[in-house]
Amino acid sequence: MTKNNSISFSYREFDREEELNPDDLELVKGAREAALNAYAPYSKFRVGAVVRLESGTLIRGSNIENAAFPSGICAERSALSNAASNHPDDKTVSIAIAAIDEDGLTDEPVPPCGNCRQVITEEELRNGKQIRVILSGRKKTLVIDRSSDLLPLQFNKNNLKISLP
Ligand code: THU
Repeated sequence: MTKNNSISFSYREFDREEELNPDDLELVKGAREAALNAYAPYSKFRVGAVVRLESGTLIRGSNIENAAFPSGICAERSALSNAASNHPDDKTVSIAIAAIDEDGLTDEPVPPCGNCRQVITEEELRNGKQIRVILSGRKKTLVIDRSSDLLPLQFNKNNLKISLP
């Protein structure tokens, strides 16, 4: 028997950032500032991410590139690794991402790459708590309530039949 399945998800799009809730707007502004700390001499594409933890703590990350290209790290993973390393008991509740290219802040929101989606959803699963993803560009901001929506049919611990504490 063949089944035709489909997966869809909904997200919100804001044309004016003043319409964002104050917490999300704070995160977007932080992501823009974090992008200024990027080390991106190769791509010249500076990305900033800010993670909000349950306690309210904000953790920044930016992309840090390397002459050995695959050794570079994206802003999202930089922020999430920092948060998990320094605040192991504080759960991530949201992450905002923004990027600056040679023309300034990008017009369009920058979506996380596949690797980062995988890492964000691992954190979501690990904490048993949805992670809200806020993608901001100059023209619009997208808000996705649950990071796993960005990675349908994801590979995770259940595929390994491993039960973690
Ligand atoms: N980059 C990020 O930091 N996050 C993403 O989600 C997309 C890509 C970085 C990686 C690389 O340093 C530069 O942007 C160009 O791909």
